[in-house]
Amino acid sequence: MMTPAGVQELVPEDRIRSRVAELARQIDEDYADAGEILLLGVLRGAFIFVADLSRALSIDRRVDFIALSSYERDARRGGVRLIMDSRVPIEGKHILLVEDILDTGRTLEYLLDAFAARKPASIRSCVLVRKPTQETQVTPDYVGFDISDEWVVGYGLDFDDRFRALPYIGTLDPDAID
Ligand code: IMP
Ligand code: MG
Repeated sequence: MMTPAGVQELVPEDRIRSRVAELARQIDEDYADAGEILLLGVLRGAFIFVADLSRALSIDRRVDFIALSSYERDARRGGVRLIMDSRVPIEGKHILLVEDILDTGRTLEYLLDAFAARKPASIRSCVLVRKPTQETQVTPDYVGFDISDEWVVGYGLDFDDRFRALPYIGTLDPDAID
């Protein structure tokens, strides 16, 4: 398949697939006695990851999504805001937050605080990609891939809402795109 201008493949499709399967096996094990978990995907970047991860799991699980205000605006404000909440009540549930990228960690830190306040039975987090740029203390429980500090797209991840549907994760050179 043709790679779009400005994009260079970083994590091929088959490596994503096998890593998602590994994460699912780990999560199955860790939650074997939990009964049911609620996967809470962070829109929009995590939508494909959640779709694949949720299907790779064997334990009882529900899926719901939340949405946050956009990264660009947040970066300037230094804050994060929930603009779409979960429809499933959180109290008493085993929550697994599923996020696309851990960059500074502010988004995940905010979400863990916000949802822990709703008295879940437990709360953990899973990120597809982690960059070495963290400015917070949050430690995700499950990490798909550790990468260097580059902008990545594909497999749900975007640049200006583009490239989400690429089947692989690629690095992006914004100066080289069409
Ligand atoms: P943090 O709050 O700094 O950890 O930022 C996390 C959010 O920034 C992620 O949910 C992404 O939406 C966005 N983000 C950071 N780096 C990238 C990237 O390389 N590609 C796409 N989105 C990114
Ligand atoms: Mg995001």
